[in-house]
Amino acid sequence: MKILIIGADGQLGTDLCRVFKGRDLIPLTQSEIEVTSMESVEKAFVKYQPEAIINTAAFIRVDDCETEQDKAYAVNAMGARNVAVQAQKIGAKLAQISTDYVFGGDPLIRQDGYTEFDKPIPLNIYGKSKLSGEELVRNLCQKHMVVRSSGLFGVAGAAGKGGNFIETMIKLAKEKPELRVVSDQVFSPTYTLDLANKIAEIVETEYYGTFHITNSGTCSWYELTRETLDAIGNKTPVIPITSDQYPQKAKRPAYSVLRNYQLQLLGISPVRSWQEALREYLREKGHIAER
Ligand SMILES: NC(=O)c1ccc[n+]([C@@H]2O[C@H](COP(=O)([O-])OP(=O)(O)OC[C@H]3O[C@@H](n4cnc5c(N)ncnc54)[C@H](OP(=O)(O)O)[C@@H]3O)[C@@H](O)[C@H]2O)c1
Repeated sequence: MKILIIGADGQLGTDLCRVFKGRDLIPLTQSEIEVTSMESVEKAFVKYQPEAIINTAAFIRVDDCETEQDKAYAVNAMGARNVAVQAQKIGAKLAQISTDYVFGGDPLIRQDGYTEFDKPIPLNIYGKSKLSGEELVRNLCQKHMVVRSSGLFGVAGAAGKGGNFIETMIKLAKEKPELRVVSDQVFSPTYTLDLANKIAEIVETEYYGTFHITNSGTCSWYELTRETLDAIGNKTPVIPITSDQYPQKAKRPAYSVLRNYQLQLLGISPVRSWQEALREYLREKGHIAER
């Protein structure tokens, strides 16, 4: 199957390219395909005639989405629409990558994870624009897979954020006497290599619809920081704080755990724990010694 990846040099795109290495792969960066332009997307799909497309392209700076709303909707919603229209035209499958931030706006804090069948209520522009993108993909491309994930970390680091949370915490822990990290936002951190492997597994199937794919287990940003620093032997104290003590432009969900319910229903094996994935990531980045 000929697979085209949009955002091939991004954090997830890089690991998708690793996973599909040696296969019939067309890795495209933004200089080769601009999702906000219908013409650019059409040109690329007509030229390469892929059988499957994985769209990782997004404007992912959550706070900047609040002040750059036009850009957020242009890339995350209209961009997804352009890709869906052109994928449908050539009869290709489309895996659209989305986010846990489509959830979290409901009044009751959940404790058992959102399933693919729960109604998303986003809290911020990033979540709203990504949800609009999902809906356009569902309406416009028949053979779609909407894949939601959360708290991504990968060796390439997020292009759109200039790195990832783990690298930022490691750097700060080496510079500062103590760290203060939010402990009232709970989610499932996810290693992009594990996510890419699962996407590769489902893209081969005809199980269309919505998928939650995250590493197993949950934690807060505070717990993720402590686990990271413990793993690399850094003793910098980490103080848990509340979101109110760390005001940001965009509101974040207090709880956005994605229960991987579709995988479970389909009998597809769950993704390993985030702690195990984190250790592999830290080894790969050279923060801890090879086993
Ligand atoms: N990062 C997270 O924690 C997280 C969590 C949940 C879900 N997600 C979703 O996962 C996906 C991948 O995220 P990531 O962390 O891999 O982000 P990333 O590293 O920023 O990758 C995004 C890629 O999309 C490209 N891109 C951006 N705007 C584009 C446009 N207008 N046209 C074509 N390409 C464009 C970027 O290229 P340039 O670098 O050249 O701009 C980059 O290669 C996104 O859909 C995101 O919403 C991310």
